[in-house]
Amino acid sequence: MEGVVVVHGGAGVVTDDRAEACRAGVKRAAAQGARVLAAGGSAVDAVEAAVALLEDDPNFNAGVGSVLNADGDIEQDALVMDGSRLAAGAVSCVRNIANPVLLARLVMDKTSHAMLTGSGAAEFARSLGVPEVPAEQLETPRSRQRWEKNRRPDPQRHPDELHGTVGAVALDRSGNLACATSTGGMTNKMVGRVGDTPCIGSGGYADNELGAVSTTGDGESIMRVVLARLVLFNVQQGMSLEEAADSALSHMTARVGGTAGLVLLAPDGRWAARCNSLRMSWAAASPGAALLHYGLERGEILTEPAPPVPLTGPGLGAGPKQ
Ligand code: GLY
Repeated sequence: MEGVVVVHGGAGVVTDDRAEACRAGVKRAAAQGARVLAAGGSAVDAVEAAVALLEDDPNFNAGVGSVLNADGDIEQDALVMDGSRLAAGAVSCVRNIANPVLLARLVMDKTSHAMLTGSGAAEFARSLGVPEVPAEQLETPRSRQRWEKNRRPDPQRHPDELHGTVGAVALDRSGNLACATSTGGMTNKMVGRVGDTPCIGSGGYADNELGAVSTTGDGESIMRVVLARLVLFNVQQGMSLEEAADSALSHMTARVGGTAGLVLLAPDGRWAARCNSLRMSWAAASPGAALLHYGLERGEILTEPAPPVPLTGPGLGAGPKQ
């Protein structure tokens, strides 16, 4: 088994004018993750590379394109988890960082902690020479428009419009699993609000013995049912991947409201991409596989020939900044 990568570009409203760009973005990220695995990279390397590419893509709510908080600023959350040793690194409320997923990985690899937040995370980033970028470089016209629009209460607005997140799960040829998730959070959120994304077991979870999950959707709902770990609990109870995901999503909506989506990968390489939101862009790719799988509508699984050559340069997060 050469491994597999499954990515998502966020559950919620994906308007028709953005649908093709979101499909293209997740396919590109999955192919990038598969390329890292093909080159002998670990599952952690693959999820980091895939998520960094999505952070660089202005069509998604993470990195460039992050939504704005109530003050019109960007505060980002990210999580990485290595299922081989149950190690995790997370950052919350970070500003001026182009790729929070890379910072989360540094927390995992270079500290004895599992999460750093706000000014402490910024200080840690500076100490390692992680470059700070001006907030304007992360903001897009769309994120500013969403902020303006959401300043006024709108009973017609679907709650799925308020969020979106990116994430990935991967299995490498050594049988190790990993997950990564990154987000700008929820548009017009309170300053200092931390969502589910950096919380271990909510925004993601990876355990070589159980599987790997990355979630997206209503953070306050996801956190209250610890969605990623709940899905894996369902798998432990003997459910199929699809049943485990759907049951956890239904439980969340029934008990605390909200909608969500997730990508899920089993230790034997089986995977699923499920949501109960309006839409969720996702894609799956394996090194050497002829086909790439992807979807946007609920339950949709489409295939197309996998790209034959590397799509971007050799570095992590090598996608174009726009
Ligand atoms: N699921 C992302 C957030 O609510 O922050």
